[in-house]
Amino acid sequence: MSNAKKSSRREFLEKSTATVAGTALAGSLNVARNAHAAGDDQIKIALIGCGGRGNGAATNCLQSCDNVKLVAVADAFEEKAKASADRLKKKFGDKVDVPQDRVFAGFDAYQKAIDSGIDMVIMATSPGFRPIQYKAAIDAGKHVFMEKPCCVDAPGFRSLMESNKKADEKGLKVGVGLQRHHQLPYVETIKRIKDGALGKLEFLRAYWNGGGVWVRSREALAKHWGRTPTEMEYQMWNWYYFVWLSGDHICEQHVHNLDICNWIMDAHPVEANGMGGRQVRKGPDVGQIYDHHFIEFTYADGTKMFSQCRHIRNCWNSVCEAAHGTEGTSNCNGRIDGKNEWRFRGKGKSPMDQEHIDLNKAIRNNEKYNEGWYGATSSFTAVFGRMATYSGQVVKWDDAVAKGPNEMPEKFAFDAKPPVLPDADGSYEHAVAMPGIYKPY
Ligand SMILES: NC(=O)c1ccc[n+]([C@@H]2O[C@H](COP(=O)([O-])OP(=O)(O)OC[C@H]3O[C@@H](n4cnc5c(N)ncnc54)[C@H](O)[C@@H]3O)[C@@H](O)[C@H]2O)c1
Repeated sequence: MSNAKKSSRREFLEKSTATVAGTALAGSLNVARNAHAAGDDQIKIALIGCGGRGNGAATNCLQSCDNVKLVAVADAFEEKAKASADRLKKKFGDKVDVPQDRVFAGFDAYQKAIDSGIDMVIMATSPGFRPIQYKAAIDAGKHVFMEKPCCVDAPGFRSLMESNKKADEKGLKVGVGLQRHHQLPYVETIKRIKDGALGKLEFLRAYWNGGGVWVRSREALAKHWGRTPTEMEYQMWNWYYFVWLSGDHICEQHVHNLDICNWIMDAHPVEANGMGGRQVRKGPDVGQIYDHHFIEFTYADGTKMFSQCRHIRNCWNSVCEAAHGTEGTSNCNGRIDGKNEWRFRGKGKSPMDQEHIDLNKAIRNNEKYNEGWYGATSSFTAVFGRMATYSGQVVKWDDAVAKGPNEMPEKFAFDAKPPVLPDADGSYEHAVAMPGIYKPY
């Protein structure tokens, strides 16, 4: 291993270890405060963000952990919060106790849920809100499970890192929905790669190439509500297509693959350059995000990671990672080829259940547990990549962290203005980043 690589890994590990040491001390100081949510006590949970994954994460938690109870739900839209409480009650009976006065709606619903006598929060809103809501939960002394991605911009990343530190000082436990960390074939393979099964690591590849995701049109929402939605309501509903809400599809999906590469490296990239654009994503309901990105990331020791993500139909699709070394290659997910050939033959639980089992165990046993560190770093790796493709410049990690722009609105209200507004024809084409003109920081 080169000195540069050693130093990069050491810095990364020192950060985590300092945290861990801090956690051990803070954890012991905070046992009394957290005792209500440890041991055999019931863990009371609030769900914030009652969409597809929010319901899914609550289900994973309730079905895989004992003595947990969902007691509050919060969503920007009341109908979503209500529907979630009803659906989960039907499915889980006594494990759900959400009376009407603990069904919260609106932009401040998250705070009301956090303040409703709970021990742990599950966060699954659109990602732009994650740093704000994570900070509120940690400030209030709650354990957290938060979905990926955890931020969409540099101020969000910096806030996450502050909250991670605070979580450790308070002995709070944090899980992040990068579930491959709880998926046995990944865990076993990456352990072997780190132990040297591929010899000297040469480069990494990461892909999320697919056809794209849902589009929620303005017309469909107007029909559903029987009135014209405000611009803020519409963007919140069709959040995938706005940078302030989703971070672009590179953050929203590709974060999973970038996270695998960071995991293997025990580090984040320090430099990135790339290209991307919007080839087929045209029309009023597809906001401002790109439909393809390609990035060459460089880690501190010079190792390259080549990343592709695409939302274009009828192309080559692949969602995977690969690691290449002097003595072999691996798909990072159960297979090593070359000198140390190996196949994963075991069986594991669903990683989306397992991540809740592991978090629950850490809370009960007051174990050190904070996935927020890599959750933040991997999420910002995606933002960093977006800065490279949007700008066409070579971007540097430290500058991106320190100087990256704030993407969030000044005010959160359904009648407030979001950061991007449509043209007279309803299109956001003017807000699509133009390489050569867009400034990364
Ligand atoms: N780990 C995984 O594999 C995985 C899979 C799917 C989704 N996710 C993540 O889960 C998150 C949610 O995705 P989804 O598919 O459930 O989206 P969704 O649109 O179905 O649900 C999001 C919900 O959050 C609510 N919401 C938005 N802003 C809010 C706010 N400020 N306060 C309260 N509620 C708010 C919305 O009204 C909506 O009900 C995303 O970050 C996504 O990346 C992760």
